[in-house]
Amino acid sequence: MKSYDGRVNAVDGISLEIDKGEFLTLLGPSGSGKTTTLMMIAGFEEPSSGVIELGGEDLTRRKPYERNIGVVFQNYALFPHMTVERNVAFPLRMRAFPRSQQAERVREILDLVGLRRFADKHPRELSGGQQQRVALARGLVFNPDVLLLDEPLGALDKNLREQMQVELKRIHREVGITMVYVTHDQTEAMTMSDRIAVFSHGTLEQTAPPLEVYHRPRSRFVGEFIGDSNFFTGRVDSGAPGHVELDGVGPIEADADACRRLAGAPVDVLVRPERLQLVGDSELLANRLAVKIGVIVNYGDSVLIIGDAGRQRIRIRIAGAQPDAVREGATVMVAWKAGDEHLIARS
Ligand SMILES: Nc1ncnc2c1ncn2[C@@H]1O[C@H](COP(=O)(O)OP(=O)(O)OP(=O)(O)O)[C@@H](O)[C@H]1O
Ligand SMILES: [Mg+2]
Repeated sequence: MKSYDGRVNAVDGISLEIDKGEFLTLLGPSGSGKTTTLMMIAGFEEPSSGVIELGGEDLTRRKPYERNIGVVFQNYALFPHMTVERNVAFPLRMRAFPRSQQAERVREILDLVGLRRFADKHPRELSGGQQQRVALARGLVFNPDVLLLDEPLGALDKNLREQMQVELKRIHREVGITMVYVTHDQTEAMTMSDRIAVFSHGTLEQTAPPLEVYHRPRSRFVGEFIGDSNFFTGRVDSGAPGHVELDGVGPIEADADACRRLAGAPVDVLVRPERLQLVGDSELLANRLAVKIGVIVNYGDSVLIIGDAGRQRIRIRIAGAQPDAVREGATVMVAWKAGDEHLIARS
């Protein structure tokens, strides 16, 4: 737990176990406690209660430089008056790394991030992406056990961002280091992580591999925060096995096991937009809705349809080209298979 002012808890009741070599992403909206958690791991903030351990050792009261942990911030935080080489060598000097080996270690790490040619430049002579590589090299140069990265790509444009994402993953693989990565970009979290820890209001909603978070979110918040979603409310029918009564829609068929587990319970029902299919009147899929089309977004390789089924807003994503029947103002039948939904108990 961490409180900055003794009244409000910035993070509360967080329990995270991170595997050696893992790429873990802390994901959540602004103010949800991601940076606070990272700063406690790094030692720049002290938890108000609780412990931080690394490999079974208690680090809680240790200074940042007494922890073998590297940090990369969003704003690079490079020393402007030092060359790239001196910036990267800085942590080695701080840690009394053998002098005779410093230059070689710096060269090695500049090779890893592809900046050898820039060793004598100053930060202001580099692009944003290159500066971020220097920061990355500085975070890695002293062989830390863990590298913490707080929105390191936040300031880069989209293309450079994607390039750096690939680069970071390569470095993660090559060095085999544990990385804890903070972002509020869910796509970035999905593509880079072994596991994602989803934060909301200073608490952890779910920690799981990306596809599990996507397909089996533990809460409506997680389901809505990650990916595109349709959420219904309803109640699992305890009289008719495998059925859920959806508010404003009526009975649907759902996964039998989930229904048994949640018999009689009020639920949030998630159906991802890509699970919805356009169907003709004659096709026999149990769960169907008439949707009046409001907006069509054609991405070229897929089409997003936003419409209404009664008072329920519906999003449908179909792969490929836009079918003739899909026109603004038209009404189409959409359906999904039992089991394509995900049920979440509502408290
Ligand atoms: N130094 C500080 N002093 C007081 N309150 C703080 C401090 N740093 C953060 N907070 C508060 O703690 C809460 C969590 O903030 P934190 O910076 O951890 O969020 P975050 O998830 O990193 O958000 P963002 O995505 O905007 O970076 C917020 O309510 C914030 O206002
Ligand atoms: Mg932050």
